[in-house]
Amino acid sequence: MNTYPIVILFSGNGSNMESLYKNLHHRYIEDWCIEIPMVFTNNPHAFGIKRAEKLGVECKILCHKNYKNRAEYDQHIIDIIQPYNPKICLLAGYMRILSEVFIKSFLTINIHPSLLPLFKGANAIKESFESDMKIAGVTVHYVSKELDSGAIIAQEAFYRKDYETFEKFENKIHSIEHKLYPHSVFEVIQNTIKLS
Ligand code: GRF
Repeated sequence: MNTYPIVILFSGNGSNMESLYKNLHHRYIEDWCIEIPMVFTNNPHAFGIKRAEKLGVECKILCHKNYKNRAEYDQHIIDIIQPYNPKICLLAGYMRILSEVFIKSFLTINIHPSLLPLFKGANAIKESFESDMKIAGVTVHYVSKELDSGAIIAQEAFYRKDYETFEKFENKIHSIEHKLYPHSVFEVIQNTIKLS
C-alpha cells in the first residue's frame, strides 16, 4: 500500500479544512491511501484549530507576524511542511498570498468563492452578491504566481434568484464548496495515479 500525503493550510473558520479532512483522509484509490497527517495555520486564533483538535489531526501554528518578508516566512512554512512530503497542498481559506518559493516547492490547489476570473481577492462573496449577475458560484484552481489566476480545475454555478439575502447567498456558496472541493481534489489524485 502507498500513501498519498496532503497538507491543508487555513487561516480562519476552517470549514473547508474540516470537509476536506472528512472526505479525503483515509480514502483509497487503487492501492493508494490518501493521508492528511497535518494541517497548518498562520493564525493562532483561528477557529479551525478547534476543528482540527476535534478531528484529531495535528495542527501546526506559525504566526506570520515578525518576519522580514513573505518569502522568509514562507520558507519557514516549507520547513514545517516538507517532512510530511505532501504530494499536494490545499489552501482552505488561507488568507495570505504565497511567495514563489512556496509555489515552486509544492503543487498547490485553492478554492475561491466566485466564478473566476470574476471577483478575485478577499471580498469575492460580497462583490459577487452585489453584482448584477444572474449566476454566482465557486472555483477550484491550481495556485500560480498571480492571485486567483492559476488553471481552473472545477467550477459550479447557481442561479442567484433563490438566494436574495446575503446570509442565504453565503450559505449556498459554502455548501457548494464543501462538496466541490473534496470531489475535485479526489479526481485530481485519481488522474495523477492513473498516469503514474
Ligand atoms: C471560503 O469561502 C473559501 O472559498 C475562501 O475562504 C473561505 C474560507 O472559509 N478562500 P472556511 O474557513 O473554510 O470556513
